[in-house]
Amino acid sequence: MLTDDEARSINQRVFETSQDLILVTDGYGTLIQVSPSSMAILGFSPAEMIGKSGAPFMVPADLEATRSEMRAARAGRATRHFSCRYFHKDGRVVPLMWMGVWSEPDHHHFFIGRDMTDRERTEAQLRQSQKMEAVGLLTGGIAHDFNNILMVILANVDALQEEQGLASPLRVYLDQIGGAAQRAADLTRQLLAYSRKQALRPTPTDVNELVGGTARLLRRSLGEQIEIATLLAPDLWTTNVDRANLEAALINLSVNARDAMPTGGRLLVETANITFDDDYVARNLDAVRGDYVMLAVSDNGGGMAPELLEKVFEPFFTTKDVGKGSGLGLSMVYGFIKQSNGHIKIYSEVGRGTAVRLYLPRAQGSETVATAKPVPAMLAGGERILVVEDDEQVRRSVVQQLAKLGYAVSESASGADALRDFGETMRRFDVLVTDIVMPGEIDGRRLAEAARERAPAIGIVLMSGYSEDAVFQSGKLPLEARLLTKPFRRADLAQAIRQVLDGTPAP
Ligand SMILES: Nc1ncnc2c1ncn2[C@@H]1O[C@H](COP(=O)(O)OP(=O)(O)OP(=O)(O)O)[C@@H](O)[C@H]1O
Ligand SMILES: [Mg+2]
Repeated sequence: MLTDDEARSINQRVFETSQDLILVTDGYGTLIQVSPSSMAILGFSPAEMIGKSGAPFMVPADLEATRSEMRAARAGRATRHFSCRYFHKDGRVVPLMWMGVWSEPDHHHFFIGRDMTDRERTEAQLRQSQKMEAVGLLTGGIAHDFNNILMVILANVDALQEEQGLASPLRVYLDQIGGAAQRAADLTRQLLAYSRKQALRPTPTDVNELVGGTARLLRRSLGEQIEIATLLAPDLWTTNVDRANLEAALINLSVNARDAMPTGGRLLVETANITFDDDYVARNLDAVRGDYVMLAVSDNGGGMAPELLEKVFEPFFTTKDVGKGSGLGLSMVYGFIKQSNGHIKIYSEVGRGTAVRLYLPRAQGSETVATAKPVPAMLAGGERILVVEDDEQVRRSVVQQLAKLGYAVSESASGADALRDFGETMRRFDVLVTDIVMPGEIDGRRLAEAARERAPAIGIVLMSGYSEDAVFQSGKLPLEARLLTKPFRRADLAQAIRQVLDGTPAP
């Protein structure tokens, strides 16, 4: 058995070392004991709190509910669990989960409060990322199906435009259809970017050099009122990223910054080497440990309130006037960075400005830009092409386009069909044009590999609605293939085939 003194000293230790906040009040709510953890949780020392009423430390909206919990505890209804927010000395709100008991012999309330700040932040991050995930799936699915439809519309517009005897009003209608379909195609491309399903071509990139090139362009286009400064880290790591998309992201962020500074201001583009440690990863659910190349764009414009900040990555969220902004700028940047296994963070304060930071994974090892082996030159004219595509309408329009261009075309509806019907005779074909994502065992990539085994000289053009396939995640297209992103126009198709036949290295 412990003596009273021993028991008291143990209790004192518990009180002093507790991570939770322990408060003791009298029957009127005056604080008579406060654990030292108040310093860490609320920024107030026990001496600053003892002798005062608890009420001014609490968020007023929570006061009444807390009082009724105290009354209930006093009425003998055992231990009470409730939440009540307090103010930190620095003014921020601290969410606390409380356990309260009333001790009749001492006429004291005992409260133990757990700081829920981290938990609530984690939950909010989780909710946010689940929401983005769900919206991403939806937009990605819609965009994918629309691309196949637009492919067919655009192919038929191209075919009709070739017709010689078309009356001129019909030509005007046709141009309008073509223009509208092209706009729809641009929109679906943006949606695919957001849903992390665009075809990316990552190459080892020096971000400093990319910033240098883009900054020249920005200086010309953002106008005189915007001062552009760069702060580039020497010895910046290399990252494996799709350059065109990173440039587009930098431009998007700079345009947003300009819009936030209508009367002029300063745009700062910064790069740095950053390592995410355990601490950072613990505070940011969606960050992964490791080395990153940071690219940050900051402005000293109007900034954003926290409720706005939560929404900026959502597709179509814009505060700009109709016709001024589509609300897809940041969504695209977000999707692109996520698809590149990177991380994005945005800081903003009303009246002070905004900083968006992009983190791209440092490239592993000493990668150099891969140059494709030239494919031997082919016969000129009359080349044979095998088209493999599961969507019948898309297949038909590609076959028609190729036939019109003067090629001899065969077709299959799946990878398995293609191997069954043409596996033995693959050498007869000069080019294989295949969709990447197809049902069944043999998707476009497998088919391309099988075709190359049977006919080493065959040229390969991959068509992609989006890249579910790991093909792009790995960073490089296999087999020196060309990539055509749907929907594509006849001119794009013609060019890709020609380049494959002439053995121009893939870009
Ligand atoms: N640097 C910034 N400063 C202040 N607000 C910003 C900044 N960047 C973005 N925002 C806010 O976020 C919203 C969404 O930005 P986003 O780039 O996605 O779309 P947008 O600029 O409105 O349209 P779009 O980029 O498609 O033309 C903007 O409308 C604006 O309210
Ligand atoms: Mg924008």
